[in-house]
Amino acid sequence: MREINGKTRTSGLIGNPVEHTMSPMIHNFLAEELGIDMTYVPFHVEKGALDTAVKGAYSLNVLGCNVTVPYKSDVMESLVALDDIAEKIGAVNTLVRVEGGYKGYNTDITGLLRALKSEGIVLENEEVIVLGAGGVGRAVAFMCAVNGASKVYLLNRTIEKAEHIAEEVNCKVGTQCVEAWRMEEYDKLPDKKYLVIQATSVGLFPKVDEVVLEDEAFYKRVKAGYDLIYTPWETKFMKLVKKQGGQAYNGLKMLLFQAVDAFELWNECKVPDESAYKAYELLQQAVTKR
Ligand code: ATR
Repeated sequence: MREINGKTRTSGLIGNPVEHTMSPMIHNFLAEELGIDMTYVPFHVEKGALDTAVKGAYSLNVLGCNVTVPYKSDVMESLVALDDIAEKIGAVNTLVRVEGGYKGYNTDITGLLRALKSEGIVLENEEVIVLGAGGVGRAVAFMCAVNGASKVYLLNRTIEKAEHIAEEVNCKVGTQCVEAWRMEEYDKLPDKKYLVIQATSVGLFPKVDEVVLEDEAFYKRVKAGYDLIYTPWETKFMKLVKKQGGQAYNGLKMLLFQAVDAFELWNECKVPDESAYKAYELLQQAVTKR
């Protein structure tokens, strides 16, 4: 166990609830592994206390924080600067200490990009289907558009939400690559194989028998399926992708790399692949034990 002393820097997670987070495990492991004198703790912040919590953290010399539900948008008002992508997405999950306060970043998205890359998936010139047009689907659509996807088909049960996001992303990124589609109209998409990112909460434990699209015909068009869910380890979406011969991935690497990106920002360091992989093994053990 690492010793906490007068020089130890503190970081943590602002959210509500925070009791089930795996972030302390990842960050404290990385600190130990890299010999960095930093500790990471959960900060349960009550509704209405977000701004005082952020300002208080700064006064307490806290090095940086992650931010989770329900504060990823609200926290932006308490920051002194915003990274470009985080500003466009309208959500922040990482605060980095700068002069006078914190700068907000979105490492959920950079982490997802890194997770995809680690599986050999590149977005450049790729036609991508994104399932879901909630806050997460919106951020994923942004990520795909910003990183050179040639087409992003944003499929949602409620078409209006997808249309709204498509318009916003195209406008902010200066592209026309995002198209809104009704979920059930997937069969009208050009008949080819796609990378599909599952960005809804459908299928999340304990409702493991649910999936946004049941039709086998849809899965015949999936060459790779990336589910942002990681509990259960293999979602129904992933099972359906595999059944039709596609590659399927869960969202645990996204969780890993959003943490690695935040850790690197706070400590101005590069986490070696080998250390990231060890942290991933820890996470995998924790998730499969749950
Ligand atoms: P988040 O901000 O985490 O993305 P959200 O805003 O509640 O969460 O969005 C959830 C997404 O899952 C939405 O795209 C939602 O579709 P609607 O916009 O039509 O509501 C989608 N979703 C949730 N339950 C669904 C279901 N049973 N079938 C299809 N889509 C579903």
